[in-house]
Amino acid sequence: MGKIAWKGGALLAPVPPTLVTSQSDERRNVFTAAWTGIINTIPPKTYISVRPSRLSYELIAKSGGFVVNLPTERLARAVDFCGVRSGRDLDKFEALGLRTEPSPVLGLPMLCDSPVCLECRVFETMPLGSHDMFLADIVGVCVDDALLDAAGRLRLDRAGLLAYAHGGYYALGRYLGRFGFSVMKKKTAKKKAGNRK
Ligand SMILES: Cc1cc2nc3c(=O)[nH]c(=O)nc-3n(C[C@H](O)[C@H](O)[C@H](O)COP(=O)(O)O)c2cc1C
Repeated sequence: MGKIAWKGGALLAPVPPTLVTSQSDERRNVFTAAWTGIINTIPPKTYISVRPSRLSYELIAKSGGFVVNLPTERLARAVDFCGVRSGRDLDKFEALGLRTEPSPVLGLPMLCDSPVCLECRVFETMPLGSHDMFLADIVGVCVDDALLDAAGRLRLDRAGLLAYAHGGYYALGRYLGRFGFSVMKKKTAKKKAGNRK
């Protein structure tokens, strides 16, 4: 394989094009953020990188919290719309018919139609250049009860999660194996794969 060397760029893919909800005083908003990820497991911590010009930046900086709502195929249009329209110009919840309910820990709006919502409390804001990074503790997680199987396990494989890669939106593709499958005995790996069908 021959490689072409380019200058540094933000070419990490796929990433989740999350819908981030926020509220300060009576003003609420939703915007699309793909610059996000997990930065610690215990305690669980995440980040979002946000340009200071966004309305969402203002609301998150004021309230000190936000909710990361995982996007699904059914939310693809909303994901794109919330990434190209500002809450300064219109109410995106109303424009898209997005229903919200208060998150249990922080009381911020979370999307009813998102299967997994992470409640995040900011502990540090780090200016990086074009974006500021809000580092946050994940203080609560709400999951759609319809995604729990009979044994109470979360079946995120049934959620229809969305991915973003190099300017394009994608539905997740074929299931290839479970965590640790490369070192599992063949029989166990096969059984685990079967369980997911
Ligand atoms: C797929 C996608 C991903 C985006 N990711 C980010 C991001 O991580 N950080 C950011 O500041 N803006 C990001 N944007 C742009 C904002 O979502 C966009 O400017 C939005 O209109 C800001 O809304 P607001 O002013 O209502 O907060 C993204 C847009 C798209 C379409």
